[in-house]
Formats: sequence, structure tokens, C-alpha cells
Amino acid sequence: MQNLSKTLAIVLACAVNTNALSSISQTHGPHACHGVSSSLQAPNTTVVLTEVHHQNGTSFPLVDQVSSCGGPNELANITANLCRLVVNVTTSRSSSVQVEAWLPDDWNERFLATGGGGIGGCIDYPTIQNGASLGFASFGTNGGHNGSEGSDFFLNQPEVLKDFGYRAIHVEAGVGKEIVRAYYGRAPKHNYYAGCSTGGRQAFQSALLYPEDFDGVLAGSPGVDWLRIVSSKGILARRIGWPNIHSTSYVREEQWKAIVEAQINILDPLDGVKDGIIDDPTMYRFDPEILACGAGVLNGSVCLQPAQIDSVRSAYEPIADSTGKIVYPPFELGANTDVFSKNINTTTGKPELSYTILEDYFRGAVYNSTAWTPSNFTTKDMDFATDINPGQVNTGGTDLSAFRAKGGKLIAYHGRNDESVTSALSAWHFSGVQASLNASLSEMHEFYRLFYIPGMHHCSGGPGAWNIGQTWPLAEGTRDSRHNLLLALVEWVEEGRKPDSVIGTKFKNDYVADGVESQRTHCVYPRKSVWDGKGDTSRASSWMCT
Ligand SMILES: *[C@@H]1O[C@H](CO)[C@@H](O)[C@H](O)[C@H]1NC(C)=O
Ligand SMILES: *[C@@H]1O[C@H](CO)[C@@H](O)[C@H](O)[C@H]1NC(C)=O
Ligand SMILES: *[C@@H]1O[C@H](CO)[C@@H](O)[C@H](O)[C@H]1NC(C)=O
Ligand SMILES: *[C@@H]1O[C@H](CO)[C@@H](O)[C@H](O)[C@H]1NC(C)=O
Ligand SMILES: *[C@@H]1O[C@H](CO)[C@@H](O)[C@H](O)[C@H]1NC(C)=O
Ligand SMILES: *[C@@H]1O[C@H](CO)[C@@H](O)[C@H](O)[C@H]1NC(C)=O
Ligand SMILES: *[C@@H]1O[C@H](CO)[C@@H](O)[C@H](O)[C@H]1NC(C)=O
Ligand SMILES: *[C@@H]1O[C@H](CO)[C@@H](O)[C@H](O)[C@H]1NC(C)=O
Ligand SMILES: *[C@@H]1O[C@H](CO)[C@@H](O)[C@H](O)[C@H]1NC(C)=O
Ligand SMILES: *[C@@H]1O[C@H](CO)[C@@H](O)[C@H](O)[C@H]1NC(C)=O
Repeated sequence: MQNLSKTLAIVLACAVNTNALSSISQTHGPHACHGVSSSLQAPNTTVVLTEVHHQNGTSFPLVDQVSSCGGPNELANITANLCRLVVNVTTSRSSSVQVEAWLPDDWNERFLATGGGGIGGCIDYPTIQNGASLGFASFGTNGGHNGSEGSDFFLNQPEVLKDFGYRAIHVEAGVGKEIVRAYYGRAPKHNYYAGCSTGGRQAFQSALLYPEDFDGVLAGSPGVDWLRIVSSKGILARRIGWPNIHSTSYVREEQWKAIVEAQINILDPLDGVKDGIIDDPTMYRFDPEILACGAGVLNGSVCLQPAQIDSVRSAYEPIADSTGKIVYPPFELGANTDVFSKNINTTTGKPELSYTILEDYFRGAVYNSTAWTPSNFTTKDMDFATDINPGQVNTGGTDLSAFRAKGGKLIAYHGRNDESVTSALSAWHFSGVQASLNASLSEMHEFYRLFYIPGMHHCSGGPGAWNIGQTWPLAEGTRDSRHNLLLALVEWVEEGRKPDSVIGTKFKNDYVADGVESQRTHCVYPRKSVWDGKGDTSRASSWMCT
């Protein structure tokens, strides 16, 4: 009986909602979609494309997408009945930013902007798809150039560098809100941003430079100090002997696999749970001497010779600039080292970094030369890049006072098994902002909260319970504020409920359809999730924040 009345209450609630929605839908829908170009009031903006997608659950090819972003045959997934709009915004005489909108019929009156990854140049469709499925008017941008590989788009193009550096997200926010107004007939009630990696860099930069753009900002694995992150890959590769791949100090790729495996075997149990996850790798120091040939930990084909021990030791040291000041934290223990150790072209056998962003960006943006290679990379190159700061890409800084003063909320998250952006950087940045604002921890937590996710790789993936609603597809069970950080941010902004923890989910084989493997409670920094010592470690309730 009680169940029946609950069901009735839900049916009634739905009926009320539907009525409210049908009155809204008179102002939008297919006709309005094609009509946006005539009502849109935005400077320097041309509508390139309008498409109505009323086949929720189906997909369509991204015919204009360049190959390094996934190519023209990649399918975008329609996650709601929606209007898709693409606009071209001229940002200078030699640059333009592409902005794409997915406008669901069933709009939740919220605006969601997204950023880029790596060297930019691709629209973040996964986040847009998820956003639209939750009812957000969802936007993406190419960041001012098309493609995530190569240097041509940056070469001798200072204005394109500015779009990537600091301008594109602000343009997306400005034009995006106008598109919402033109299509739905009114402004969004709340404005959000979500991005990871480079998108996380753009998140912090937006809060810093354009504090009015968003009410809530979600910054994943943030690439703050982007130029040093990119440089670190070259510096670490050089520390292990690259490009002299036949020297005695060079450490081979298969040796790194064994080194990282040994780190996990030794360090993982120290946090009390043996699960292949080093909860907090910054707590430990690691002496590679124990992996020496003869020590008995690694076998004869992968053990370390004396010169290699020195290489490995230096690979886990922090990075200092030319003046000796430490500017970048040590590489994560237990994380895949591919970004600096997978550096021989398997076709040619020649030294070549598989991490292409270093060469691409330094050729196009820093040295203006397609002949440049990272073979001789040193801290001088890193310092040169930060000195010239192409397109203001590294204009970070820690003074978030304006964003804080207007009531903005920022959530950052970072995997503790990040192979690309060392997770300690997020704690550094948190402390930097705290020092800038001279704020107590509880004052910081009024507007800025950081969540570390043990066992998560860069942005997603890894052995940990990493799914917090940040990847496509958005699984059933990750569409509420307990399991989804974007929705936790919404609740914080709109209802004032501060997120103290979030439940991460690990799906079997990282495949949603295979079902849940485990869940874990992740805690607001500096608190950590610790096993209660008795419960099933695959259940979130067995983990406490301390
Ligand atoms: C659309 O969904 C398919 C199947 O899940 C996936 O392979 C593809 O990458 C998705 N497209 C985008 C742009 O996320
Ligand atoms: C779209 O389809 C998915 C399943 O394919 C469903 O869960 C969702 O509720 C649908 N959304 C809308 C707005 O119809
Ligand atoms: C976008 O704008 C730029 C600069 O004004 C122009 O060169 C480009 O052709 C435009 N693209 C489209 C599709 O309109
Ligand atoms: C419009 O484009 C011009 C250059 O073409 C630029 O100077 C101006 O700042 C742009 N306006 C806006 C609002 O972006
Ligand atoms: C990016 O690609 C789109 C779609 O083909 C095109 O309209 C736009 O002009 C391109 N932008 C740049 C900067 O090349
Ligand atoms: C980049 O190099 C080209 C020639 O290689 C030169 O014409 C151009 O002026 C250079 N641009 C900058 C910004 O130095
Ligand atoms: C040595 O150890 C590595 C890494 O554990 C393993 O892949 C390899 O098969 C081992 N080789 C021998 C000869 O046991
Ligand atoms: C390796 O070298 C070949 C030949 O120069 C090149 O085509 C390829 O892109 C390089 N990279 C990889 C990852 O194979
Ligand atoms: C790197 O340095 C070595 C030795 O100093 C030099 O022989 C080589 O030409 C340099 N390579 C590049 C690509 O500059
Ligand atoms: C920082 O805040 C503390 C406590 O509110 C205050 O005593 C101190 O003077 C402040 N320091 C600066 C440099 O503003």
C-alpha cells in the first residue's frame, strides 16, 4: 500500500513536470532550431550548421571532424531529443573559434560548457553527450584550431595560440549563453563548466580571468602549469638516458613495466588493503637499489645495472628550473611511465617520444620551427617556454578572490595513479590558492574542494573506483549527486549542500554493461578514505573519511 502511494506520487510528479515542459517547448523545438540564426545576437558569430536530432538512442557521424580528433566516421551519440548548432566565432583577423551546442528539448535550465584535452583542437563530445542526457544545454569548443596533432595550426599564428591559451572558453561562455537565450527565450538560471586535463587547466584559468562566466566549475586532473607538465616528459626521458637508447644508463620499456609492478607489490599493502592500488603515492620514497641485479627482486632480463639505478632514481626526483627552484613534483610511484619511457619508434627503431605534444607544441608555439626536436631537451627549454608563455597558456596564478567573492564554487578531482599530470600538483595548487587568499581550510572549503581518487589514471580509467560520472556512457547509478561530481557541484551551487565525499564506481572490465565490480568513498582533501578494517572492501560503506 505504501509502495503504491509512492508510485502514484511519482506519476503525479511526472505529470506536473510534463505540463511545465510542454509550455516551454512552444518556444523551442525543430522550427526554433533552424531559426536560431535569425534571432542570435552575438558579435562576430556565424551559424554554420543547425540539425534537429529527435532519435534519442541513435547516433550520427561527425562528418566535419578531422582524423586526429576521431575522424569523420566517428559516431556521436544522441542522448536526448535535441537541437544541434555549430557556430564560428571570429576572434581576430587571423583566428576563429568553433562552438558547438546540444540543446535538449527537456532542458533543466542550466548551461554547461566544456573544454579540450592535450593540445586542444577537438570538441569534448563525451561530456556534451552526458550533459545533454542530464538536461543541460551543453557546449563544446575546438579551442581555436582543428586537430590534436601537428604544429601547423600554431606555427606563426599568435592569435590562434591565444584562443588555445586563454580565450576560447570565454568565447564559448559568451556565445553559448546568447545561443541559450535565442533558442529557449531566456537566460540559463545557472552556468557550469566541466573539463579534464587541458580542460582542467581551462577551468582554473576561467575562474581566475573570467570569474563571472560560471557559477560552478569542475576541474579534472587539471593541467595547471601546462608548459611544465609538457616539458616534464622531455626532462624525464632525458633523465633515463633517452635518446641514447644504447647507452648503459638507458632504461628499457619492459624494465619500466617491471619497476612499476614492483613498486605496486611493495607499496600497495602499506595502506592496509591489498588491491593493486597505492592509495597515496606521495607518502612513500622509493629506492631503486632494491631492483638491482643480484638483489633478487627482478629477474636477470629486467633487473637494473648500476647506471640504470641512477637513471631510475633521478626519474622520480622533482623538477627544478635553471635557478634550482623546484617547480614540478615527482612522477607518481606505481603509475605507468609510458609518457617518458615508451620512446622508440617501433617501425624505424629510432628514438622518438610517443608523447607527441612536446614536439608539436614546441615546434609550433615556442620555437616556430618544424625542424626542432626534443632530443636535447633541458630545463632551459622549459624555462624559455614559461618566459615567453605563448598565447598566455600558462597564465595561471592563485588569486581566485574574485571567483570566491561572487559565490563561485570549484570542484577539482585528480587520480592518484595519473600517468600524465602528477597528482601532487593539485595539492600544490590548492595550497597556493590558500596562501594567496590567506584562507583557513574551512574558508577554502566554502568555495574550493579537491577530491583525490586513488587508483585512477589520467581523467579516467585505472584499477580504482574511478567512475564519478565523468565519462561516456553515463551509467545508471552515476546520475545522482552522490555518485557524480558534476551533479554534486550543481547541488552545492544551487542548494548550498557541500560535498564531503563522492562514491566512485569501478565497472567490471571498465564496461558499464558488465555491472559494478566495486565502489569506494572518495573524500574531500585533505581527508582520505580509509578502510574501516572489517567491511567488504568493494563496498563504499566500508570506507571512511579521516
Ligand atoms: C558513441 O557510443 C559508442 C558506443 O558506446 C562509442 O564507441 C563512441 O565513442 C561514442 N561516441 C562519442 C563521441 O563519445
Ligand atoms: C534517451 O534514451 C536513454 C536510453 O537510451 C534514456 O535513458 C533517456 O531517458 C532518454 N532521454 C530522453 C530525454 O528521452
Ligand atoms: C570561420 O571564420 C573564419 C575567420 O573569419 C573563416 O576563415 C572560416 O572560413 C570560417 N568558417 C566557416 C565554416 O564559416
Ligand atoms: C570581433 O572580431 C574583431 C576582429 O575581427 C575583434 O577585434 C573583436 O574583439 C571581436 N569582438 C568580440 C566581441 O569578440
Ligand atoms: C575547423 O573545422 C570546421 C569544420 O570543418 C571549420 O568550419 C572551421 O573553419 C575550422 N577552423 C579552423 C580554425 O580551421
Ligand atoms: C616564424 O618563422 C617564419 C620563417 O620560418 C618567419 O617568417 C616568421 O616571421 C616567424 N614568426 C615568428 C613569430 O617568429
Ligand atoms: C622476468 O620478469 C619479467 C617482469 O616480471 C617477466 O615479464 C619475464 O617473463 C621474466 N623473465 C624470465 C626469464 O623469467
Ligand atoms: C614511426 O616512424 C614512421 C616512419 O617515419 C612514421 O610513419 C610513424 O608515424 C612513426 N611513429 C610511430 C608511432 O610509428
Ligand atoms: C643534440 O646535441 C648533440 C650533442 O650535443 C648534437 O650532436 C646534436 O646535433 C643535437 N641534436 C639536435 C637535434 O639538436
Ligand atoms: C592571515 O589571516 C590571519 C587570520 O585571519 C591574520 O591573523 C593574518 O594577519 C593574515 N595575514 C595576512 C598576511 O594578511
